[in-house]
Amino acid sequence: MGAEVKIDALLENMTLAEKLGQLTMTAAGHAVTGPVIAGDSVEALRTGTVGNVLNLIGADHVHSWQRLAVEESRLRIPVLFALDILHGYRTLFPIPLAEAGLFDPAMWMATARATAAEAAADGIALTFAPMLDVARDPRWGRAAEGPGEDPWVGRCMAAAKVRGFQGGSLARTDTLAATAKHFVGYAAVTAGREYAALELSERTLREVHLPPFAAAVEAGVAAVMPAFTDLAGLPLTAHRPLLRETLRQRLGFDGVIVSDYNAVAELLEHGIAADEVEAAALALKAGIDIDMMAGAYRRGLPIALQRGLVTMAEVDESVRRVLRLKERLGLFDDPFRRGSQSLPASASVESRHLAREVAARSIVMLTNTRDTLPLGPSPKRLAVLGPLADASAEMRGPWWAAAPPEGHVTVFEGLRAALPATEVRHAPGVPIEDADTSGIAQALALCDGADAVVLCLGEAAVMCGEAASRAHLDLPGAQRSLAEAVLERAHARGVRVIVVLFSGRPLVVPGLIARADAVLAAWFLGSEAGNALADVLTGRISPSGRTTMTWPRAMGQIPIFYAERPSGRPFASDNRYTTRYIDEANEPLFPFGHGLTYGTFALSGLRVAPSVAREGDIIEAHVEVRNEGRRRARETVFLFVRDKVASVTRPLLELRAFGSVTLDPGEQATLTLAVPAHELRFPGPKLEPIFEPGEIEVLVGPGADRKRLLAATLRLDAG
Ligand code: NOJ
Repeated sequence: MGAEVKIDALLENMTLAEKLGQLTMTAAGHAVTGPVIAGDSVEALRTGTVGNVLNLIGADHVHSWQRLAVEESRLRIPVLFALDILHGYRTLFPIPLAEAGLFDPAMWMATARATAAEAAADGIALTFAPMLDVARDPRWGRAAEGPGEDPWVGRCMAAAKVRGFQGGSLARTDTLAATAKHFVGYAAVTAGREYAALELSERTLREVHLPPFAAAVEAGVAAVMPAFTDLAGLPLTAHRPLLRETLRQRLGFDGVIVSDYNAVAELLEHGIAADEVEAAALALKAGIDIDMMAGAYRRGLPIALQRGLVTMAEVDESVRRVLRLKERLGLFDDPFRRGSQSLPASASVESRHLAREVAARSIVMLTNTRDTLPLGPSPKRLAVLGPLADASAEMRGPWWAAAPPEGHVTVFEGLRAALPATEVRHAPGVPIEDADTSGIAQALALCDGADAVVLCLGEAAVMCGEAASRAHLDLPGAQRSLAEAVLERAHARGVRVIVVLFSGRPLVVPGLIARADAVLAAWFLGSEAGNALADVLTGRISPSGRTTMTWPRAMGQIPIFYAERPSGRPFASDNRYTTRYIDEANEPLFPFGHGLTYGTFALSGLRVAPSVAREGDIIEAHVEVRNEGRRRARETVFLFVRDKVASVTRPLLELRAFGSVTLDPGEQATLTLAVPAHELRFPGPKLEPIFEPGEIEVLVGPGADRKRLLAATLRLDAG
């Protein structure tokens, strides 16, 4: 029987309660006796009144619940099991913000592939990832979960992640259906405060926030999750224009829209629904297929139907989408297909190798004065200090899926393993968040006689991710006191201090960065964090990660991002009446794309062709890259465009391509970056995409620092 015929037959046969079961997702919790359904009982699986479950971990549990549905429920419709799997399932890869800095779509895809295989082997079929919110405000903790500040990076990452999770076909047993979230604009919450309302112009929405979602849809993403938040008067959970017109009609998305956790019920708090019935009706009308955790569809929609607020056709439309997804996932053919075969032991070894490589390449070397790094070949003694130096659970970062707290390599462990002949000593000095300074003296003592100090500071994993907005982006607890004391003591003894900063966002610590001899942004690197850091610290691997969020020098600069629009009064140092602060520089501490390597790269000879491009052409930029340093390293090169005169103002720089090359000392290569000319379209005065004739500046270089970019021009021709 064809899939649609089967779905028609099922729909024909379903009671309203069974239909609403398919539109309901409930979380599994854990009771003493084992997993339970939150606020419900597993009886709901037998009666078919819960069709989707999140947060159940373990193939045995998944299969025993699946059995209730497919063996004991009237219609035997399989259950969809879902989980947040943002950057690994058991083997954790770097958090997405860190991994974005690889600028390597093949790697982005590879980690999603490995993640899907691990999770599917445990019976999971749907992940709530990738998170595609373009984040320009580091106060917002969820910046950690996504691609950073740039929509082009967001687009490239969206496509790679969706393809990685979903593989060639959702019916394969090692794939997961992906969910693009949080549609759309969530990262722009007012003042970076979690769950706050936001305002966005239609232009910014189209230019910045929608493109990654469009790319995910184009790559065939199975599901989309709207954001919790209110966008200019309408919460996304009830945003009919954005969900029905933009997402479904304009972008062509025909998959499942799943609400965020309890978001349908939260329409009451938002103040646009008087009761659960209205909330459910608003969400269904807007196009939400699955109500996650609110139970509002099950309780509210029967009454909404009676009141004439929704129609059975609307209910059926959503049920059909959910059943189609289950069908695509192969669940009707074999509901136990995922989780029936455990992965071979070699798979986890391979995942660990991949995790180590990706983690090492995600590290961003922010500074390295006087060639402090890499450490000499065999230092005699190292002091590995700070509360994050030996904190396995913290290495996971937020959203650790099924990874237990232990088993993630710490910096202390990684360095000991990498340098067996070195005496590696450790003291935490202070806790991550508490003000207890009693351990500082012990840490200081280890500075004496050390060849170098590796000082591991930063946030706890739970200080980023959901519900983790921060108003102060300084080091938490007493870490600043520890840092000051260590820097003073070590420098007094002539010992260099390498700071390793763990965080889910750029931190605002300009004083620390200025005083340290070298600083590595380690973000949260996952299961192989310590080995990866040891690889970079010892020089086994040259750092090559780039920051995909601008690092501010002061809190008052936030929100901060490179793709600003021009001012009518561009900054001039000798003119007060130009765009500027009177008490701080405009420039960030580190621009988008910043990241040093152990090489020294020179770029030259930028050539761009054709000199006149039509919409269907491919524009190619060729640039010579030469490693003038003493070590083999990988350089990433960015291509930005600038449309100087257009019918609407255009950003000062816009990323349109990136590429990398690994070169030995003295080696030179030509790097070619290609941009389809149609990618230079932008929303015109009426917001419709236009390809406007005129001159375009092409700027190529190692990051969004205008002074370091080579420039060439070409003309766009409407012809
Ligand atoms: C709330 C978060 O906003 C969302 O990203 C996540 O997928 C759900 N909870 C489910 O855990």
